[in-house]
Amino acid sequence: MLAHVLVRNSTPSDSFELKECPIPEVGPGQVRIKVTAFGLNFADIMARQGLYRECPPLPCIIGYDVEGFIDQVAPDVTGFKPEDRVFALTRFGGYAQYAITQAQAVSHLPTEAPVGIGCALATQCVTAYHAAILSQTLLPGEKVLIQAAAGGLGTALIQIALWKGCTVIGVVGGKEKADYIRKLGVQHVVDHHTISWVDYVNQHLGGRVDVIFDNVGGSSIKKGKAVLSAGGRIVTLGAAALSGKKGKLNLIKLGLGFGFFSPISFLGKSQSLIGVNMLKIADYRPDMINVSFKGVAQLYKDGILNPHIGKVFSQDELAEAQAHMEDRKAIGKVVVTWNE
Ligand SMILES: NC(=O)c1ccc[n+]([C@@H]2O[C@H](COP(=O)([O-])OP(=O)(O)OC[C@H]3O[C@@H](n4cnc5c(N)ncnc54)[C@H](OP(=O)(O)O)[C@@H]3O)[C@@H](O)[C@H]2O)c1
Repeated sequence: MLAHVLVRNSTPSDSFELKECPIPEVGPGQVRIKVTAFGLNFADIMARQGLYRECPPLPCIIGYDVEGFIDQVAPDVTGFKPEDRVFALTRFGGYAQYAITQAQAVSHLPTEAPVGIGCALATQCVTAYHAAILSQTLLPGEKVLIQAAAGGLGTALIQIALWKGCTVIGVVGGKEKADYIRKLGVQHVVDHHTISWVDYVNQHLGGRVDVIFDNVGGSSIKKGKAVLSAGGRIVTLGAAALSGKKGKLNLIKLGLGFGFFSPISFLGKSQSLIGVNMLKIADYRPDMINVSFKGVAQLYKDGILNPHIGKVFSQDELAEAQAHMEDRKAIGKVVVTWNE
């Protein structure tokens, strides 16, 4: 099979090589998928930059999500058969023509679903389901602030929060993204190129929000804690602030930026800080992944989750796809398709 192998931590055009690789064989509990499209996630950018410590040693095949057709099924797996159209979380190995994964991280994809939908469902929607439904409960009327709101994860969080009857504050960079989330129904659109979200919350929302989905990390968490209402939750999902910044000093700066909180400050206001790392959930709680997969498949069927495919690249345009996401141009999901 062909695979885009990450061979060095460099620029988008200098990091991957398209190579012939052995087709992986299924192990217990696994299925193999003939991949028609794989998705990009921001973690892939961090992995390419050498800033993602969970990334396997180089050379390696990265990639968290695929859609395609079942090709091989382990003897102990039920519910899937060859030729079923599916979407799957791959936990690396996605940038390839064949991928294996645990059957618990796979779900059927309706034949009419457009290209890329399955990729968005498998990672960003599953993450949003875990962060906004399994980890806590969003109540009607709550003020929910979502960073990187126009991205793949942001879109899914917006759709869930609006479905739950929340008031959504979407934070994005730039007019095109602002227009996009306004069309999704976001009530408070904050373009951070023109106003900081902290100023916006202070000026328009009485200085308080109930839930924050934070993907920036560092001092963003400290700022969030300062405007969090009693009973509020901060869900920390990533550290995009580190993107492009190499070296231990930057890591230390980011770490210190998070601030130091006593549990008493959370207890006193009945607040929560919730960490979400889907890689660890996939490793240690495949049963939880399975709950999210089933939930996401149902919400897609019900029209609650409706991923937006922002850009589809072909197999020889991986560098362009990586640059597109790194340059903060991604709106919705970014996918790469394999030629027939
Ligand atoms: N914890 C988990 O398990 C998990 C799972 C999936 C995703 N995530 C995290 O959720 C976030 C969204 O993921 P996604 O795949 O859907 O990507 P995405 O939102 O399509 O792209 C990332 C966005 O983050 C924003 N951003 C903020 N600071 C940035 C910086 N310093 N450099 C580059 N971008 C920055 C940009 O939006 P603006 O220009 O609009 O600010 C950018 O477009 C990422 O941070 C990702 O790591 C975490």
